[in-house]
Amino acid sequence: MRILGIETSCDETAVAVVEDGTKILSNVVASQVDIHARYGGIVPEVASRQHMLTILPVLKHAMFQAKVSWQDVDAIATTFGPGLSGSLLVGVNVAKASALAQGLPLIGINHLEAHIYANWLEGNQPFFPCLCLIVSGGHSDLVLMSEHGKYQRVGRTRDDAAGEAFDKGARILGLGYPGGPAIEAAAKDAVPSLSLPRAWLRGSDDFSFSGLKTALLHLVQKRGSLDAAWVAEAAASFQQAIIEVLATKAIATAKRLGVRQILLSGGVAANRALGSYFASHCSLPFHIPRPGLCTDNAAMIAACAYYRFQAGVVDDYSLDVVPGLIIS
Ligand code: KG4
Ligand code: ZN
Repeated sequence: MRILGIETSCDETAVAVVEDGTKILSNVVASQVDIHARYGGIVPEVASRQHMLTILPVLKHAMFQAKVSWQDVDAIATTFGPGLSGSLLVGVNVAKASALAQGLPLIGINHLEAHIYANWLEGNQPFFPCLCLIVSGGHSDLVLMSEHGKYQRVGRTRDDAAGEAFDKGARILGLGYPGGPAIEAAAKDAVPSLSLPRAWLRGSDDFSFSGLKTALLHLVQKRGSLDAAWVAEAAASFQQAIIEVLATKAIATAKRLGVRQILLSGGVAANRALGSYFASHCSLPFHIPRPGLCTDNAAMIAACAYYRFQAGVVDDYSLDVVPGLIIS
């Protein structure tokens, strides 16, 4: 079964064709990062206009790369939330129009659920029950997954998401946008020797990163002028503080819940230092999709849709965007 997935929830225009929920036939991502970088963050109106310009060429390119025509596609899936409403509308309407024109089933997908399903791509077969750590620009969730489509959110961020913390920290350090890759690059050869706080929130599976960001701001203000060596040390210390909290809490929650595996996903899961930390501190099996499948893409949308479709879930043309959608 081949599913065409569409993803336009934020600033990536993406279309992919995936076979049987795991084999990627094509995975095209047109990033708007250069357009938004000059503003230091995503401008929603600019994002939706850019999706409108890019979506049809990206869709054609994905079908061309997968060597499929509409006759070879069995269903069309699209993210309907969470995300920016103007951006989501582009993908949802292109999916609806294509489904109607081609007489194909339409499947609306929760973007957070799709991040988890990046773990099923390229032949990987996770075990249930598993604990999913979704760490993206807008979310930091710990989700217990007992079987396909069955979730219980056990933890979330109480303020900034981990990716948001990376983006804000990078701005404070003058490292540009997007912050995660910029901090990771700056931190590469530096020692995390600066003292920064960790919000453990003991007794809770929630996260909090806004205090860490404020502490970094205070360090920078105290320092006055910034030289490259100090910025690298600060980037490494800031990254280490985020990683330690994410990994320590996820591992402790996984052990307490008695799951068989931890699945990481979302843009922050692309961070190699986070992967190394898990490798040296996690005694449970864990899986991280390769970096290009952690950040926003449409292959994960198609993978998730495969399991929903198998369970008999399809949508009708009343499918609408839900910008504040959660996973629960
Ligand atoms: O999942 P994603 O691509 O989009 C959302 O659904 O939000 O995540 C984007 C977030 C951004 O905040 C970005 O700074 C962060 O993921 N990110 C990283 C890395 N690559 C992307 N954070 C840390 N290290 C990275 N290598
Ligand atoms: Zn995402």
